[in-house]
Amino acid sequence: MTMLAAGTVVCRSDELQDGIPLGFTLGEGDWPLRGLVLQQGGEVRAFVNQCPHAGHRLDFPPGRFLTPDGSLLLCRSHGAIFDKANGECVAGPCMGERLRSIAVQVSQGSVCLAGDVDLDALVTRYW
Ligand code: FES
Repeated sequence: MTMLAAGTVVCRSDELQDGIPLGFTLGEGDWPLRGLVLQQGGEVRAFVNQCPHAGHRLDFPPGRFLTPDGSLLLCRSHGAIFDKANGECVAGPCMGERLRSIAVQVSQGSVCLAGDVDLDALVTRYW
């Protein structure tokens, strides 16, 4: 079992720009936690950077998570589009599925994991 402890820092709060996702990697080895954190409307949320369609990372090249108008998240592999607020796929090959959420909280100028994270349970290994 590979665990990340509650309180692990994801990023500094001042690294976030409203509506612009920031990619992050926590942990080591072949299967670290790759995620994206997003501040919007005063809320900060995070998702696993792994598409429910075929398990690819959403951003390719790294750091490019958005549709051209910036309103939605985009998986660049096969074009699935996700709602920023809840990670639901609203168009594309995995319509109705969701990005997996990561519970985060803001504390003392940092975005941190809100609880322990079991990587084996959260990240799907496709090979
Ligand atoms: S892996 Fe994301 S749309 Fe296919």
